Amino acid sequence: MDTSGTYHVPVLLRQSVEGLVVDPDGVYVDATFGGGGHSREIVSRLSNKGHLYGFDQDADTMNNIIKDNRFTFVYSNFRYMPNFMRWYGHEKVTGILADLGVSWHHFDDSTRGFSFRFEGPIDMRMNQKEGMKASDVLNEYPEEKLAQLFWLYGELQNGRQVAAAIGRARKNSRLETVTQLLDAVRPVIGREREKKDTAKLFQALRMEVNHEVDALREMLTGAVGLLDKGGRLVVITYHSIEDRMVKNLMKSGNIEGEIKTDFYGNREVPFKAIGKPVIPDAAEQAANPRSRSAKLRIAEKI
Ligand SMILES: C[S@@+](CC[C@H](N)C(=O)[O-])C[C@H]1O[C@@H](n2cnc3c(N)ncnc32)[C@H](O)[C@@H]1O
Repeated sequence: MDTSGTYHVPVLLRQSVEGLVVDPDGVYVDATFGGGGHSREIVSRLSNKGHLYGFDQDADTMNNIIKDNRFTFVYSNFRYMPNFMRWYGHEKVTGILADLGVSWHHFDDSTRGFSFRFEGPIDMRMNQKEGMKASDVLNEYPEEKLAQLFWLYGELQNGRQVAAAIGRARKNSRLETVTQLLDAVRPVIGREREKKDTAKLFQALRMEVNHEVDALREMLTGAVGLLDKGGRLVVITYHSIEDRMVKNLMKSGNIEGEIKTDFYGNREVPFKAIGKPVIPDAAEQAANPRSRSAKLRIAEKI
């Protein structure tokens, strides 16, 4: 259940949309529609010729669909963005916005398992129609693989001990609920860092369940070919793993950040950065504490 009643509060709204909409007649993609906050602002800046396609893989977002001829909702993972845009007749688009991660709705809905504030099933799938739940990962992955993902995706210093604690607990019974998971890891999660480390553990599980790194890699790589010359790529990230991927792509055109050179040694880079990375100002951070880790990067296709 959505306890706050607010689906989501958009982060860095003005800065991101101003950076995105360079032509009111253009074709745009909001890769992460969510509550539609960014999408509504984009549509408000379009002429009658302009159009916005909003992607989301979570069926709950369909309740927020914008009723406007200039808007089309696409119920899909954003990794398939270029294919869908071709289907809609667009080989190229004028701008792509991605506001990564999860919405308030995910955190506030106790039945989805994204938050450690509520008791509930540890599901964590954004698309509830497919894939493993977080409880499947916790109960079925070998301890070594769990340790690896806690380290890689959660940057959890004691990932090995956390994985071992889960291994011990699941010998007695499957871990199915948030309380069962918290009870299992409590002995190895330090008191002083309890909230931070638990958040990291939940982040790692969420990223694994939703294949977030693979989906982001595919979406960003697809964006290079899909964007028209002069078009904008605008991305808001919430943790260092995502930000590193975006930064590398904008610098080099690939996730590894390797700048290629042509036969004559000239650098072949598809983007130029527009301004420096932006973070929410003090007022936004105070009004919306969940915006605190946000970082906005804008690049223009050359
Ligand atoms: C931070 S919220 C976006 C909020 C939105 N900008 C707004 O103003 O309401 C991220 C949204 O992206 C969606 N999402 C995350 N990964 C996705 C993916 N790979 N494909 C499609 N949607 C995704 C989530 O379901 C969630 O609704």
